[in-house]
Amino acid sequence: MNEEQFATSKDGFKHLPVLYREVLEYLTFDGPCRIIDGTLGSGGHSSLILKANPQAELLGIDRDGDALERAKENLKFAGKRVNLVRGNFSELANSANEIGWDSVDAILLDVGVSSPQIDDSKRGFALRLDGPLDMRMDKRSQITASRILNYRAETELARIFYEYGEERRSRRLARAIVERREEKPFERTLEFAGFCESVLGKSRPGKLPTPTKCFQALRIAVNDELDELKRALSEAVPLLKKGGRVAVISFHSLEDRIVKEFFREQAAECICPPGMPVCICDHPAQVKILTRRPVKAQADEIEFNRRAASAKLRVAEKI
Ligand SMILES: C[S@@+](CC[C@H](N)C(=O)[O-])C[C@H]1O[C@@H](n2cnc3c(N)ncnc32)[C@H](O)[C@@H]1O
Repeated sequence: MNEEQFATSKDGFKHLPVLYREVLEYLTFDGPCRIIDGTLGSGGHSSLILKANPQAELLGIDRDGDALERAKENLKFAGKRVNLVRGNFSELANSANEIGWDSVDAILLDVGVSSPQIDDSKRGFALRLDGPLDMRMDKRSQITASRILNYRAETELARIFYEYGEERRSRRLARAIVERREEKPFERTLEFAGFCESVLGKSRPGKLPTPTKCFQALRIAVNDELDELKRALSEAVPLLKKGGRVAVISFHSLEDRIVKEFFREQAAECICPPGMPVCICDHPAQVKILTRRPVKAQADEIEFNRRAASAKLRVAEKI
């Protein structure tokens, strides 16, 4: 597989689906099957899945209207096998029911932002490209990064940077934001990146730039990313057929922890608190975990797609 074989759309954006070999290995079924791609993006993974099995049908979901347009183009070859929905993957069961699907063979979530979103300065995701502090995956949403910075209470800002950015000096940063916004509201990405460095200091050589985690925190808050993931996982398992699989690719430890803990709980025969003399939870295991450790990209993939370096794939199968 080379780069040219990946989905390329007319507007010139190219998206390389991460862990493409591994996703295909886990999500290729024989014969007719129904697959939900909850993070359709440009349709990179979906296109490979549909090509690998000409009898596979797809429900592709994305909340980003631009992504859906690209995917529509890239998946034209599959004709009526493709159903597209603009919406949140936390409502995937509802989207499936709307097209008459009450169970599916596989659900894929490749969470986080896509390359086209990061590379477009107007979307405001990148800390090195000047643009508005936006960061909405769904442009219909009212919540932007600048609204959060300019209007949220100091304690709430501290919570966002601590919980979603794992920033130890979150209270100092929140205090400084509140002081500064009284003089001038935050509007631009580069301006906020510079502000983070002025408050928290520059990172040491070889470490991630200081604003990276601040941007991550804001993005998670703008898009409610962690709650979306938790809700999607709990919708996914009941929707799977026996032997059906849910596969999740995550890019940072906060997401990976949610997936790991969810799978572990769903695979457990008993979820009673430790120390209970007898089991009272009556919790039958729902899944078996197929990836004891998260699957990571191979060196040759990382070589042509740096973003694959932090990707982790976990897969569970309904029992
Ligand atoms: C990493 S990209 C997926 C790329 C895709 N796998 C491909 O191969 O082209 C993540 C996509 O998921 C979408 N997304 C993220 N969170 C979402 C959510 N909660 N509901 C629906 N779409 C979401 C983003 O808009 C983005 O287009």
